[in-house]
Amino acid sequence: MNELPKVYYFDNNATTRIAPEVADAMIPFLREYWGNPSSAYAFGAQVHKHVEAAREKVAALVNADPKEVLFTSCGTESNNSAIHSALVTTGKKHVITTAVEHSANINFGEYLQKRGYEVTFLPVESDGSLDLHRLEQAIRPDTAIVSVMYANNETGVIFPIEEVAAICRSRGVLCHTDAVQVPGKLRVDVKALGVDFLSLSAHKLHAPKGIGMLYVKRRTKYQPYVIGGHQERGRRGGTESVPNVVGFGRAAELAMATLEDENTRVRALRDRLENHILRQIPNTIRNGAKEPRLPNTANIAFDFVEAEAVLMLLDQVGICASSGSACTTGSLDPSHVLSAMGVTPMRARGSVRFSLGIYNTEEDVDYLLKHLPPIIQKLRDISPLNPEHPDNDKYDIAGARAKHEQDLAVAKDQEIVAA
Ligand SMILES: Cc1ncc(COP(=O)(O)O)c(C=O)c1O
Repeated sequence: MNELPKVYYFDNNATTRIAPEVADAMIPFLREYWGNPSSAYAFGAQVHKHVEAAREKVAALVNADPKEVLFTSCGTESNNSAIHSALVTTGKKHVITTAVEHSANINFGEYLQKRGYEVTFLPVESDGSLDLHRLEQAIRPDTAIVSVMYANNETGVIFPIEEVAAICRSRGVLCHTDAVQVPGKLRVDVKALGVDFLSLSAHKLHAPKGIGMLYVKRRTKYQPYVIGGHQERGRRGGTESVPNVVGFGRAAELAMATLEDENTRVRALRDRLENHILRQIPNTIRNGAKEPRLPNTANIAFDFVEAEAVLMLLDQVGICASSGSACTTGSLDPSHVLSAMGVTPMRARGSVRFSLGIYNTEEDVDYLLKHLPPIIQKLRDISPLNPEHPDNDKYDIAGARAKHEQDLAVAKDQEIVAA
């Protein structure tokens, strides 16, 4: 294969580079130890032993008992499985989640609504935080489960899961948290959190894609989502993806070891990047609360530009970042997370997420800070929405402003819809 050009990677919330230690741990299970872990003979049993060793490591990452760890194919499956199980085992019809969850919850919630279930998408405050009073008010006698993410993937805003779980316990409702963005950045302790279910995805912590886990608290009733063989103690059918499981185990060990680095060095890099942008580039603003926030995430709105254009120009110089907005079949929808926070569609469309990781260096940040300001300036120079545009009398500025006001009204509407 041709050597890839150097990539300046600022999209660690999307996925992470596989750690060399993780790849090394996986290779024997691609080459020599390829037996089925469910087979009774020694060649299978040997593989089974390694699956269980990985389960112990993943359990240790979240302070769970290995029996409480169920391997899945991804974070999405883990989230879907927890909610599905709660609905089946309780026989209740109402789910509470938030308007800023990953599409793993938003789209599953909408799917449930179409099938006769009721789903409340709790609104958030303008800084992305959750009003727990609203959560308490939303719980009903027919509520099966509350599912609130531990940290938001777009803004990094951290939610008070311990308090959410305490409310759920006091009201006899199951509690799930999507902790996909958290390991390696915060210490995760399921016992201290008091949740019934917790989801992780290995590819966010330097392990391969296609492997996730669901923590199911001991004695919490569980109904499998993937029905088939007796694997995972009868809780998920399907032969385990052994190399991925082993990689996940190794990555779990590394995530605990790199926690300190994420919270000191990576945090300092993120802060330097964010402070520099906010101070040096006019008309920029951070989306979401400054704290509590993941140490690696900065989501910045650049007024008068389209994020997709910024990302394209960054890509041309080898920089990977992402927008808070999803691009669907050519039309740009503003991010549902930023919309739920009341960010205007215009500002949401100009928002870029930079998410750092353990492999980022000072040099990476210098490189980004060298290229970003001229890119923003270049785009603003040709943006009709820029009031300082030298030719702005040639454009329909009044029309553009009116459209902006219209967008603002839509954003407010959306907030009401979300409520
Ligand atoms: C918060 C959150 N939840 C769930 C997922 C889905 O994880 P997976 O890609 O493993 O399905 C992601 C992935 O981006 C995420 O950021």
